[in-house]
Amino acid sequence: MTSVTSNKNNLFSPIVLGNLTLANRIIMAPLTRNRAGDGNVPQDMNVEYYRQRAGAGLIISEGSQISATGVGYPATPGIHSQLQIEGWQRVTNAVHAEGGRIFIQLWHTGRISHSSLQPGHKLPVAPSALKAAGQAITYEGMKDFETPHALTLDELPGIVADYATAAKNAKAAGFDGVEIHAANGYLLDQFLRDGTNRREDDYGGDVTNRMRLLVEVVEEVIAVWGDHRVGVRLSPENSFNDISDSRPQQTFNAVAKKLSDYRLAYLHVLEGDMMTGERHVDYVALRNCFAGPYMANNGYDLDSGNRAIEQNDADMVAFGKLFIANPDLPERFAENLPLNKPDHDTFYGGDEKGYTDYPKYAGG
Ligand code: PHB
Repeated sequence: MTSVTSNKNNLFSPIVLGNLTLANRIIMAPLTRNRAGDGNVPQDMNVEYYRQRAGAGLIISEGSQISATGVGYPATPGIHSQLQIEGWQRVTNAVHAEGGRIFIQLWHTGRISHSSLQPGHKLPVAPSALKAAGQAITYEGMKDFETPHALTLDELPGIVADYATAAKNAKAAGFDGVEIHAANGYLLDQFLRDGTNRREDDYGGDVTNRMRLLVEVVEEVIAVWGDHRVGVRLSPENSFNDISDSRPQQTFNAVAKKLSDYRLAYLHVLEGDMMTGERHVDYVALRNCFAGPYMANNGYDLDSGNRAIEQNDADMVAFGKLFIANPDLPERFAENLPLNKPDHDTFYGGDEKGYTDYPKYAGG
């Protein structure tokens, strides 16, 4: 049994995931910060940022592209070049030196990209040739999304192979595991949800077909990492990036059930809609479809996080904005100390300001 068997746990209880023990259940959520160096290589300030946050039971890195075509934004790190592997090695060494644990989030943004970010300035790829509403962030400013290239059947094995290569690169970079990003309107989510997947082959139509690419990716990545080292992130009703599903509860209950066939480290769920805050899906029902550890995310604080674990509605809770502003979040939670406020203006891009200069609690 890897999931919680008693209701006596809370955010501060260790959790055992296979042969990996996390010191607490306060997880640092994956957070895009757009501060990678040239070549999308992790650089000094990224090492310091993650080092400062090593008190998390587990850090999940910001989304890191599996391939050059997986890129969707300026200055997001990759895990497909030798220099990127070496940059991440410095991050994982720093986190491990502080006694922390870190997974990398494997990311392909699909249609949420722009030809100016793509190799050879080709169109971004997606399950179907459907343009997202809105604009891409590019090195030349905001540009309307384009109608993506619908991946052909013979191009799909190459995508799966890129995930496998990225998973191997993550091992070489010294990570403790990987999280497959299947949420928030990016490529794997574009396959899962029927608003963006209009395919008529084995990868579109019913949910078994729509989850086929994710399942193939999970199998290949587990072949690299083994049991209890691979997490999957889902966001059943997030509308971010112009995505929707006509039956989110049914779709994602089925995905959670299928993912129970694998010994995942965890299922990580962004609950509700990031854009509106609305929650219509029954996440306890979804969680009950999954036979493994459940990581809840989106808007939790100390009290609601503890309550979720005490009530056995979650095994771990991931915190995003609170970890941006509070490098020592677990200590602050443990002592019920006041929290720094996150500065939205410095979330994306820039330098150390709003990144590595949030202070630890200094007393007073
Ligand atoms: C963001 O850039 O705000 C962002 C990136 C990746 C996510 C979610 C949000 O999965």
